Amino acid sequence: MADKLIIFDTTLRDGEQSPGASMTREAKVRIARQLERLKVDVIEAGFAASSNGDFEAIQLIANTIKDSTICSLSRANDRDISRAAEALKGANSARIHTFIATSALHMEKKLRMTPDQVFEQAKQSVRYARNLVGDIEFSPEDGYRSDVDFLCKVIEAVIAEGATTINVPDTVGYAVPELYGNFIKTLRERIPNSDKAIWSVHCHNDLGMAVANSLAGVKIGGARQVECTINGLGERAGNCSLEEVVMAVKTRKDYFGLEMGIDAKHILAASRMVSQITGFVVQPNKAVVGANAFAHASGIHQDGVLKARDTYEIMRAEDVGWTANKIVLGKLSGRNAFKQRLQELGIQLESEADINSAFARFKELADRKSEIFDEDILALVSDESITHEKEQYGFVSLSQHSETGERPQASIVFTVDGKEVKGASEGNGPVDASLKAIEAHVKSGAEMVLYSVNAISGSTESQGEVTVRLQNSGRVVNGVGADPDIVVASAKAYLSALNRLHSKADHVAAQG
Ligand code: KIV
Ligand code: ZN
Repeated sequence: MADKLIIFDTTLRDGEQSPGASMTREAKVRIARQLERLKVDVIEAGFAASSNGDFEAIQLIANTIKDSTICSLSRANDRDISRAAEALKGANSARIHTFIATSALHMEKKLRMTPDQVFEQAKQSVRYARNLVGDIEFSPEDGYRSDVDFLCKVIEAVIAEGATTINVPDTVGYAVPELYGNFIKTLRERIPNSDKAIWSVHCHNDLGMAVANSLAGVKIGGARQVECTINGLGERAGNCSLEEVVMAVKTRKDYFGLEMGIDAKHILAASRMVSQITGFVVQPNKAVVGANAFAHASGIHQDGVLKARDTYEIMRAEDVGWTANKIVLGKLSGRNAFKQRLQELGIQLESEADINSAFARFKELADRKSEIFDEDILALVSDESITHEKEQYGFVSLSQHSETGERPQASIVFTVDGKEVKGASEGNGPVDASLKAIEAHVKSGAEMVLYSVNAISGSTESQGEVTVRLQNSGRVVNGVGADPDIVVASAKAYLSALNRLHSKADHVAAQG
Protein backbone atom coordinates (compact mmCIF):
# COMPACT_ATOMS: atom_id res chain seq x y z
CA MET A 1 0.00 0.00 0.00
CA ALA A 2 1.15 3.57 -0.76
CA ASP A 3 2.22 5.86 2.10
CA LYS A 4 -0.54 7.60 3.99
CA LEU A 5 -0.81 11.37 4.13
CA ILE A 6 -2.33 12.56 7.41
CA ILE A 7 -4.75 15.47 7.10
CA PHE A 8 -4.65 17.72 10.15
CA ASP A 9 -7.39 20.34 10.11
CA THR A 10 -6.88 23.53 12.11
CA THR A 11 -9.97 25.52 11.00
CA LEU A 12 -11.15 25.65 14.62
CA ARG A 13 -7.80 26.92 15.92
CA ASP A 14 -5.60 28.71 13.37
CA GLY A 15 -8.64 29.44 11.17
CA GLU A 16 -10.53 30.93 14.07
CA GLN A 17 -7.63 33.30 14.76
CA SER A 18 -8.65 35.25 11.67
CA PRO A 19 -10.22 38.53 12.90
CA GLY A 20 -13.99 38.21 12.76
CA ALA A 21 -13.94 34.41 12.40
CA SER A 22 -14.61 33.62 16.06
CA MET A 23 -17.17 30.85 16.41
CA THR A 24 -19.55 29.82 19.14
CA ARG A 25 -19.08 26.48 20.91
CA GLU A 26 -22.10 25.00 19.13
CA ALA A 27 -20.84 26.17 15.75
CA LYS A 28 -17.47 24.57 16.47
CA VAL A 29 -19.11 21.26 17.29
CA ARG A 30 -21.08 21.39 14.02
CA ILE A 31 -17.90 22.00 12.08
CA ALA A 32 -16.09 19.24 14.00
CA ARG A 33 -18.90 16.82 13.07
CA GLN A 34 -18.54 17.78 9.42
CA LEU A 35 -14.76 17.27 9.64
CA GLU A 36 -15.38 13.84 11.11
CA ARG A 37 -17.71 13.03 8.20
CA LEU A 38 -14.94 14.20 5.90
CA LYS A 39 -12.71 11.69 7.73
CA VAL A 40 -10.09 14.23 8.69
CA ASP A 41 -7.40 12.40 10.69
CA VAL A 42 -6.70 15.10 13.29
CA ILE A 43 -8.93 18.01 14.32
CA GLU A 44 -7.16 20.83 16.14
CA ALA A 45 -10.17 21.94 18.15
CA GLY A 46 -8.68 25.02 19.78
CA PHE A 47 -6.15 26.36 22.25
CA ALA A 48 -7.41 25.23 25.66
CA ALA A 49 -5.50 27.76 27.79
CA SER A 50 -6.57 30.76 25.70
CA SER A 51 -10.06 31.14 27.19
CA ASN A 52 -12.74 29.23 29.07
CA GLY A 53 -14.78 29.26 25.87
CA ASP A 54 -12.00 27.48 23.97
CA PHE A 55 -11.48 25.02 26.81
CA GLU A 56 -15.18 24.11 26.87
CA ALA A 57 -15.39 23.82 23.08
CA ILE A 58 -12.43 21.40 23.02
CA GLN A 59 -13.96 19.41 25.87
CA LEU A 60 -17.31 19.14 24.06
CA ILE A 61 -15.66 18.18 20.77
CA ALA A 62 -13.47 15.60 22.54
CA ASN A 63 -16.59 14.06 24.06
CA THR A 64 -18.56 14.13 20.79
CA ILE A 65 -16.16 13.13 18.02
CA LYS A 66 -15.14 9.50 17.96
CA ASP A 67 -13.35 8.88 14.67
CA SER A 68 -10.80 11.70 14.45
CA THR A 69 -7.94 12.46 16.84
CA ILE A 70 -8.72 15.63 18.79
CA CYS A 71 -5.87 18.03 19.42
CA SER A 72 -5.36 21.14 21.53
CA LEU A 73 -2.67 23.71 20.95
CA SER A 74 -0.62 24.76 23.94
CA ARG A 75 2.34 27.05 24.55
CA ALA A 76 5.42 25.30 25.88
CA ASN A 77 4.66 25.64 29.57
CA ASP A 78 3.25 23.27 32.19
CA ARG A 79 0.09 25.29 32.83
CA ASP A 80 -0.98 25.39 29.17
CA ILE A 81 -0.13 21.73 28.68
CA SER A 82 -2.10 20.63 31.76
CA ARG A 83 -5.08 22.67 30.58
CA ALA A 84 -4.89 21.01 27.14
CA ALA A 85 -4.69 17.52 28.69
CA GLU A 86 -7.64 18.32 30.94
CA ALA A 87 -9.80 19.51 28.01
CA LEU A 88 -8.94 16.39 26.00
CA LYS A 89 -9.80 13.88 28.74
CA GLY A 90 -12.96 12.55 27.04
CA ALA A 91 -11.32 11.99 23.63
CA ASN A 92 -11.03 8.53 22.09
CA SER A 93 -7.72 9.65 20.68
CA ALA A 94 -6.03 12.82 21.98
CA ARG A 95 -3.04 14.89 20.91
CA ILE A 96 -1.26 17.82 22.56
CA HIS A 97 0.38 20.25 20.15
CA THR A 98 2.98 22.35 21.93
CA PHE A 99 4.98 25.15 20.35
CA ILE A 100 7.72 27.66 21.03
CA ALA A 101 9.39 30.11 18.64
CA THR A 102 12.89 29.23 17.44
CA SER A 103 13.82 32.00 14.99
CA ALA A 104 16.39 34.52 16.23
CA LEU A 105 13.89 37.32 15.62
CA HIS A 106 11.08 35.75 17.64
CA MET A 107 13.34 34.54 20.46
CA GLU A 108 14.98 37.92 20.93
CA LYS A 109 12.17 40.36 20.20
CA LYS A 110 9.05 38.46 21.21
CA LEU A 111 10.03 35.88 23.82
CA ARG A 112 13.08 37.79 25.14
CA MET A 113 14.73 34.45 25.74
CA THR A 114 18.16 33.12 24.81
CA PRO A 115 18.43 30.12 22.46
CA ASP A 116 19.60 28.01 25.43
CA GLN A 117 16.48 28.93 27.40
CA VAL A 118 14.23 28.09 24.43
CA PHE A 119 16.05 24.76 23.97
CA GLU A 120 15.53 23.84 27.64
CA GLN A 121 11.89 24.93 27.64
CA ALA A 122 11.08 22.97 24.46
CA LYS A 123 12.61 19.78 25.94
CA GLN A 124 11.02 20.19 29.32
CA SER A 125 7.54 20.88 27.90
CA VAL A 126 7.58 17.82 25.63
CA ARG A 127 8.75 15.72 28.58
CA TYR A 128 5.89 17.10 30.69
CA ALA A 129 3.28 16.61 27.95
CA ARG A 130 4.44 13.08 27.23
CA ASN A 131 3.56 12.07 30.78
CA LEU A 132 -0.02 13.19 30.19
CA VAL A 133 -0.78 12.08 26.60
CA GLY A 134 0.98 9.61 24.29
CA ASP A 135 0.53 11.60 21.07
CA ILE A 136 2.64 14.79 21.16
CA GLU A 137 3.22 17.23 18.34
CA PHE A 138 5.95 19.84 18.60
CA SER A 139 6.16 23.00 16.46
CA PRO A 140 9.15 25.33 16.37
CA GLU A 141 7.21 28.52 15.61
CA ASP A 142 8.65 30.55 12.73
CA GLY A 143 10.59 27.34 12.04
CA TYR A 144 11.26 28.15 8.41
CA ARG A 145 13.11 31.35 9.35
CA SER A 146 15.11 29.65 12.12
CA ASP A 147 18.81 28.88 12.06
CA VAL A 148 19.04 25.35 10.71
CA ASP A 149 21.74 24.19 13.18
CA PHE A 150 19.73 25.42 16.14
CA LEU A 151 16.55 23.90 14.74
CA CYS A 152 18.25 20.49 14.31
CA LYS A 153 19.43 20.62 17.93
CA VAL A 154 15.93 21.48 19.26
CA ILE A 155 14.10 18.92 17.13
CA GLU A 156 16.52 16.11 17.93
CA ALA A 157 16.04 16.85 21.64
CA VAL A 158 12.23 16.94 21.54
CA ILE A 159 12.07 13.69 19.57
CA ALA A 160 14.31 12.14 22.22
CA GLU A 161 11.83 13.39 24.85
CA GLY A 162 8.97 11.63 23.03
CA ALA A 163 7.49 14.03 20.45
CA THR A 164 5.69 11.87 17.89
CA THR A 165 5.02 14.52 15.23
CA ILE A 166 7.36 17.35 14.21
CA ASN A 167 5.61 20.22 12.48
CA VAL A 168 7.67 22.86 10.68
CA PRO A 169 5.65 26.07 10.38
CA ASP A 170 6.20 28.73 7.78
CA THR A 171 4.49 31.06 10.24
CA VAL A 172 4.69 34.22 8.15
CA GLY A 173 4.23 32.71 4.67
CA TYR A 174 7.77 33.56 3.54
CA ALA A 175 8.73 30.23 1.96
CA VAL A 176 8.79 29.26 -1.72
CA PRO A 177 8.04 25.66 -2.70
CA GLU A 178 11.46 24.31 -3.68
CA LEU A 179 13.26 25.93 -0.74
CA TYR A 180 10.64 24.83 1.78
CA GLY A 181 10.67 21.25 0.44
CA ASN A 182 14.45 21.14 0.64
CA PHE A 183 14.40 22.66 4.12
CA ILE A 184 12.27 19.77 5.42
CA LYS A 185 14.47 17.29 3.55
CA THR A 186 17.64 18.76 5.12
CA LEU A 187 16.16 18.59 8.61
CA ARG A 188 15.14 14.98 8.12
CA GLU A 189 18.55 14.04 6.75
CA ARG A 190 20.56 15.83 9.41
CA ILE A 191 18.63 14.87 12.55
CA PRO A 192 19.77 11.39 13.62
CA ASN A 193 16.45 10.33 15.21
CA SER A 194 14.22 11.99 12.56
CA ASP A 195 12.71 8.62 11.62
CA LYS A 196 11.14 8.35 15.07
CA ALA A 197 8.61 11.08 14.26
CA ILE A 198 6.10 11.92 11.55
CA TRP A 199 7.00 15.14 9.76
CA SER A 200 4.36 17.76 9.18
CA VAL A 201 4.00 20.95 7.16
CA HIS A 202 2.13 24.09 8.25
CA CYS A 203 2.17 26.91 5.71
CA HIS A 204 0.63 30.37 5.71
CA ASN A 205 -0.53 31.99 2.52
CA ASP A 206 0.95 35.49 2.62
CA LEU A 207 2.50 35.10 -0.83
CA GLY A 208 -0.27 32.84 -2.13
CA MET A 209 1.95 29.75 -1.93
CA ALA A 210 0.65 27.89 1.13
CA VAL A 211 -0.72 24.95 -0.88
CA ALA A 212 2.30 24.79 -3.20
CA ASN A 213 4.70 24.97 -0.25
CA SER A 214 2.82 22.25 1.63
CA LEU A 215 2.87 19.98 -1.42
CA ALA A 216 6.63 20.59 -1.85
CA GLY A 217 7.11 19.74 1.82
CA VAL A 218 5.38 16.44 1.10
CA LYS A 219 6.99 15.63 -2.25
CA ILE A 220 10.54 16.92 -1.75
CA GLY A 221 10.74 16.91 2.03
CA GLY A 222 8.95 13.64 2.74
CA ALA A 223 6.42 15.15 5.17
CA ARG A 224 3.46 12.88 5.85
CA GLN A 225 1.12 15.29 7.58
CA VAL A 226 -0.36 18.49 6.13
CA GLU A 227 -1.92 21.14 8.38
CA CYS A 228 -4.70 23.01 6.64
CA THR A 229 -8.05 24.73 7.04
CA ILE A 230 -11.37 24.64 5.20
CA ASN A 231 -11.45 27.41 2.57
CA GLY A 232 -7.89 28.30 3.61
CA LEU A 233 -9.37 30.25 6.54
CA GLY A 234 -6.77 31.88 8.77
CA GLU A 235 -5.09 35.07 9.86
CA ARG A 236 -3.94 37.56 7.23
CA ALA A 237 -4.00 35.70 3.87
CA GLY A 238 -4.94 32.45 5.60
CA ASN A 239 -3.58 28.91 5.83
CA CYS A 240 -3.10 26.09 3.36
CA SER A 241 -6.54 25.19 2.02
CA LEU A 242 -7.73 21.65 2.82
CA GLU A 243 -9.85 21.23 -0.29
CA GLU A 244 -7.03 22.27 -2.60
CA VAL A 245 -4.31 20.17 -1.02
CA VAL A 246 -6.57 17.11 -0.77
CA MET A 247 -7.77 17.32 -4.36
CA ALA A 248 -4.23 17.95 -5.65
CA VAL A 249 -2.98 14.79 -3.95
CA LYS A 250 -6.02 12.79 -5.11
CA THR A 251 -6.11 14.08 -8.69
CA ARG A 252 -2.33 13.75 -9.14
CA LYS A 253 -1.98 10.41 -7.40
CA ASP A 254 0.25 9.46 -10.34
CA TYR A 255 2.76 12.04 -9.06
CA PHE A 256 2.32 12.01 -5.27
CA GLY A 257 1.60 8.30 -4.85
CA LEU A 258 -0.09 8.86 -1.50
CA GLU A 259 -3.24 7.55 0.17
CA MET A 260 -5.54 9.64 2.33
CA GLY A 261 -8.51 8.71 4.49
CA ILE A 262 -10.54 11.73 3.32
CA ASP A 263 -14.09 11.25 2.01
CA ALA A 264 -14.01 14.11 -0.50
CA LYS A 265 -17.74 14.19 -1.24
CA HIS A 266 -18.22 16.08 2.04
CA ILE A 267 -15.85 18.88 1.02
CA LEU A 268 -18.43 21.26 -0.43
CA ALA A 269 -20.76 21.02 2.57
CA ALA A 270 -17.77 21.71 4.86
CA SER A 271 -16.81 24.72 2.79
CA ARG A 272 -20.34 26.15 2.81
CA MET A 273 -20.69 25.51 6.53
CA VAL A 274 -17.46 27.29 7.43
CA SER A 275 -18.29 30.17 5.12
CA GLN A 276 -21.75 30.62 6.57
CA ILE A 277 -20.66 30.32 10.18
CA THR A 278 -17.78 32.76 9.86
CA GLY A 279 -19.21 35.08 7.21
CA PHE A 280 -16.06 34.65 5.10
CA VAL A 281 -17.46 34.41 1.60
CA VAL A 282 -15.79 31.95 -0.82
CA GLN A 283 -14.63 33.71 -3.99
CA PRO A 284 -16.44 32.38 -7.11
CA ASN A 285 -13.20 31.35 -8.84
CA LYS A 286 -11.80 29.51 -5.78
CA ALA A 287 -10.46 26.09 -6.73
CA VAL A 288 -12.70 23.10 -5.94
CA VAL A 289 -15.37 24.93 -3.89
CA GLY A 290 -15.93 28.25 -5.70
CA ALA A 291 -19.26 28.67 -7.51
CA ASN A 292 -17.44 28.74 -10.87
CA ALA A 293 -15.01 25.90 -10.15
CA PHE A 294 -16.89 23.54 -12.46
CA ALA A 295 -18.79 26.07 -14.61
CA HIS A 296 -17.88 26.19 -18.26
CA ALA A 297 -18.92 29.53 -19.68
CA SER A 298 -17.11 29.70 -22.99
CA GLY A 299 -18.78 28.06 -25.97
CA ILE A 300 -15.69 26.06 -26.91
CA HIS A 301 -15.38 24.64 -23.40
CA GLN A 302 -19.09 23.83 -23.16
CA ASP A 303 -18.95 22.03 -26.47
CA GLY A 304 -15.92 20.02 -25.37
CA VAL A 305 -17.41 19.07 -21.99
CA LEU A 306 -20.64 17.93 -23.64
CA LYS A 307 -18.69 15.67 -25.99
CA ALA A 308 -16.35 14.30 -23.34
CA ARG A 309 -16.14 15.67 -19.80
CA ASP A 310 -12.42 15.09 -19.45
CA THR A 311 -11.64 17.54 -22.28
CA TYR A 312 -11.83 20.36 -19.73
CA GLU A 313 -12.52 18.67 -16.37
CA ILE A 314 -9.74 17.10 -14.31
CA MET A 315 -12.00 16.26 -11.37
CA ARG A 316 -15.67 15.36 -11.17
CA ALA A 317 -17.83 17.97 -9.47
CA GLU A 318 -19.88 15.29 -7.73
CA ASP A 319 -16.72 13.77 -6.18
CA VAL A 320 -16.32 16.87 -4.00
CA GLY A 321 -20.01 17.17 -3.16
CA TRP A 322 -21.54 19.20 -5.98
CA THR A 323 -24.65 17.14 -6.36
CA ALA A 324 -25.21 15.41 -9.69
CA ASN A 325 -28.90 15.30 -8.89
CA LYS A 326 -30.05 18.56 -10.39
CA ILE A 327 -33.72 18.15 -9.45
CA VAL A 328 -34.53 21.30 -7.55
CA LEU A 329 -36.92 21.14 -4.64
CA GLY A 330 -40.01 23.30 -4.41
CA LYS A 331 -43.19 23.76 -2.41
CA LEU A 332 -44.61 20.42 -3.51
CA SER A 333 -41.57 18.51 -2.27
CA GLY A 334 -42.27 16.34 0.73
CA ARG A 335 -40.40 15.74 3.96
CA ASN A 336 -38.75 12.58 2.59
CA ALA A 337 -37.36 14.34 -0.47
CA PHE A 338 -36.07 17.09 1.81
CA LYS A 339 -34.52 14.58 4.21
CA GLN A 340 -32.88 12.72 1.36
CA ARG A 341 -31.39 15.93 -0.03
CA LEU A 342 -29.99 16.72 3.42
CA GLN A 343 -28.31 13.32 3.38
CA GLU A 344 -26.92 13.85 -0.12
CA LEU A 345 -25.47 17.15 1.04
CA GLY A 346 -23.82 15.42 4.01
CA ILE A 347 -25.96 17.32 6.52
CA GLN A 348 -26.82 15.44 9.66
CA LEU A 349 -29.32 17.17 11.92
CA GLU A 350 -29.32 16.01 15.49
CA SER A 351 -32.92 14.87 15.96
CA GLU A 352 -36.26 14.40 14.21
CA ALA A 353 -37.35 17.65 15.90
CA ASP A 354 -34.46 19.46 14.16
CA ILE A 355 -35.45 17.95 10.83
CA ASN A 356 -39.04 19.07 11.40
CA SER A 357 -37.91 22.57 12.25
CA ALA A 358 -35.67 22.72 9.16
CA PHE A 359 -38.50 21.32 7.02
CA ALA A 360 -40.90 23.98 8.32
CA ARG A 361 -38.40 26.66 7.28
CA PHE A 362 -37.97 24.97 3.94
CA LYS A 363 -41.75 25.14 3.37
CA GLU A 364 -41.82 28.78 4.43
CA LEU A 365 -39.06 29.56 1.96
CA ALA A 366 -40.68 27.48 -0.79
CA ASP A 367 -43.83 29.59 -0.46
CA ARG A 368 -41.79 32.65 -1.37
CA LYS A 369 -39.32 31.18 -3.84
CA SER A 370 -40.34 28.68 -6.50
CA GLU A 371 -37.10 26.68 -6.74
CA ILE A 372 -35.01 25.69 -3.75
CA PHE A 373 -31.37 24.95 -4.62
CA ASP A 374 -28.78 23.11 -2.59
CA GLU A 375 -27.24 26.43 -1.59
CA ASP A 376 -30.60 27.50 -0.11
CA ILE A 377 -30.76 24.30 1.93
CA LEU A 378 -27.22 24.77 3.20
CA ALA A 379 -28.10 28.34 4.25
CA LEU A 380 -31.30 27.16 5.87
CA VAL A 381 -29.72 24.51 8.08
CA SER A 382 -27.07 26.89 9.33
CA ASP A 383 -29.81 29.15 10.65
CA GLU A 384 -29.26 29.73 14.35
CA SER A 385 -32.82 28.86 15.31
CA ILE A 386 -32.20 25.25 14.23
CA THR A 387 -28.82 25.03 15.87
CA HIS A 388 -29.97 25.48 19.46
CA GLU A 389 -27.89 28.55 20.03
CA LYS A 390 -29.67 30.77 22.57
CA GLU A 391 -29.38 34.22 21.14
CA GLN A 392 -30.07 37.59 22.70
CA TYR A 393 -31.51 39.14 19.52
CA GLY A 394 -33.88 37.53 17.02
CA PHE A 395 -35.56 38.81 13.85
CA VAL A 396 -39.40 38.97 13.75
CA SER A 397 -40.58 41.25 10.92
CA LEU A 398 -39.70 44.30 8.91
CA SER A 399 -41.41 46.83 6.71
CA GLN A 400 -39.75 49.52 4.71
CA HIS A 401 -40.69 52.16 2.22
CA SER A 402 -38.49 53.58 -0.50
CA GLU A 403 -39.41 55.69 -3.48
CA THR A 404 -37.34 57.72 -5.91
CA GLY A 405 -36.76 61.17 -4.50
CA GLU A 406 -37.93 60.20 -0.98
CA ARG A 407 -35.79 59.32 2.02
CA PRO A 408 -36.28 55.57 2.74
CA GLN A 409 -37.90 54.56 6.03
CA ALA A 410 -37.94 51.26 7.87
CA SER A 411 -39.63 49.85 10.92
CA ILE A 412 -38.58 46.57 12.45
CA VAL A 413 -39.78 44.18 15.12
CA PHE A 414 -37.15 42.01 16.79
CA THR A 415 -36.72 40.18 20.07
CA VAL A 416 -34.34 41.03 22.89
CA ASP A 417 -34.03 38.10 25.31
CA GLY A 418 -37.36 36.77 24.03
CA LYS A 419 -39.30 40.08 24.35
CA GLU A 420 -40.52 41.87 21.24
CA VAL A 421 -39.33 45.43 20.66
CA LYS A 422 -39.94 47.86 17.79
CA GLY A 423 -37.62 50.32 16.14
CA ALA A 424 -38.02 52.79 13.30
CA SER A 425 -35.63 54.99 11.38
CA GLU A 426 -34.90 56.59 8.08
CA GLY A 427 -31.63 56.16 6.21
CA ASN A 428 -29.75 56.63 2.95
CA GLY A 429 -31.31 53.45 1.57
CA PRO A 430 -33.70 50.75 2.87
CA VAL A 431 -30.83 48.66 4.31
CA ASP A 432 -29.31 51.65 6.06
CA ALA A 433 -32.73 52.64 7.47
CA SER A 434 -33.37 49.09 8.75
CA LEU A 435 -30.01 48.72 10.48
CA LYS A 436 -30.34 52.22 11.98
CA ALA A 437 -33.77 51.16 13.30
CA ILE A 438 -32.12 48.26 15.13
CA GLU A 439 -29.21 50.35 16.34
CA ALA A 440 -31.57 53.08 17.64
CA HIS A 441 -32.81 50.53 20.15
CA VAL A 442 -29.68 48.46 20.86
CA LYS A 443 -27.16 51.33 20.95
CA SER A 444 -24.20 48.97 20.48
CA GLY A 445 -21.94 51.79 19.30
CA ALA A 446 -20.19 49.26 17.05
CA GLU A 447 -18.50 50.36 13.86
CA MET A 448 -19.48 48.50 10.68
CA VAL A 449 -16.28 47.48 8.91
CA LEU A 450 -17.79 45.26 6.23
CA TYR A 451 -21.16 44.84 4.54
CA SER A 452 -21.48 42.40 1.64
CA VAL A 453 -24.37 40.81 -0.27
CA ASN A 454 -24.06 37.65 -2.28
CA ALA A 455 -26.78 35.95 -4.35
CA ILE A 456 -26.78 32.38 -3.03
CA SER A 457 -27.75 30.72 -6.27
CA GLY A 458 -27.03 33.27 -8.94
CA SER A 459 -30.27 34.84 -10.18
CA THR A 460 -32.47 37.67 -8.85
CA GLU A 461 -34.86 34.95 -7.64
CA SER A 462 -32.13 33.77 -5.36
CA GLN A 463 -31.79 34.36 -1.63
CA GLY A 464 -29.41 37.13 -0.71
CA GLU A 465 -26.75 36.16 1.80
CA VAL A 466 -25.50 39.16 3.72
CA THR A 467 -22.36 39.40 5.84
CA VAL A 468 -21.96 42.22 8.34
CA ARG A 469 -18.70 42.75 10.22
CA LEU A 470 -18.80 44.86 13.38
CA GLN A 471 -15.96 46.15 15.46
CA ASN A 472 -16.20 47.38 19.02
CA SER A 473 -13.52 47.84 21.71
CA GLY A 474 -10.97 45.85 19.72
CA ARG A 475 -13.37 42.97 19.10
CA VAL A 476 -14.30 42.05 15.52
CA VAL A 477 -17.29 39.81 14.76
CA ASN A 478 -19.17 38.67 11.68
CA GLY A 479 -22.88 38.07 11.32
CA VAL A 480 -24.57 36.30 8.41
CA GLY A 481 -28.22 36.33 7.31
CA ALA A 482 -30.04 34.86 4.32
CA ASP A 483 -33.46 35.71 2.86
CA PRO A 484 -34.98 36.29 -0.59
CA ASP A 485 -35.48 39.91 0.58
CA ILE A 486 -31.99 41.40 0.96
CA VAL A 487 -33.20 44.07 3.39
CA VAL A 488 -34.47 41.31 5.69
CA ALA A 489 -31.23 39.35 5.13
CA SER A 490 -29.31 42.47 6.15
CA ALA A 491 -31.33 42.90 9.34
CA LYS A 492 -30.82 39.21 10.20
CA ALA A 493 -27.07 39.54 9.57
CA TYR A 494 -26.87 42.65 11.75
CA LEU A 495 -28.73 40.95 14.62
CA SER A 496 -26.51 37.89 14.26
CA ALA A 497 -23.39 40.09 14.49
CA LEU A 498 -24.78 41.80 17.60
CA ASN A 499 -25.37 38.37 19.18
CA ARG A 500 -21.71 37.57 18.70
CA LEU A 501 -20.55 40.95 19.87
CA HIS A 502 -22.43 40.51 23.10
CA SER A 503 -21.39 36.88 23.68
CA LYS A 504 -18.82 36.23 26.36
CA ALA A 505 -16.13 34.55 24.26
CA ASP A 506 -12.70 36.09 24.79
CA HIS A 507 -9.54 34.82 23.23
CA VAL A 508 -5.81 34.94 23.64
CA ALA A 509 -4.57 34.29 20.10
CA ALA A 510 -1.67 31.94 19.51
CA GLN A 511 1.20 33.54 17.69
CA GLY A 512 0.97 31.61 14.44
O1 KIV B 1 1.85 29.36 12.18
C1 KIV B 1 2.30 28.87 13.22
O2 KIV B 1 3.48 28.95 13.54
C2 KIV B 1 1.36 28.22 14.12
C3 KIV B 1 1.94 27.45 15.24
C4 KIV B 1 1.32 27.80 16.54
C5 KIV B 1 1.93 26.00 14.93
O3 KIV B 1 0.17 28.26 13.91
ZN1 ZN C 1 -0.26 28.94 11.85
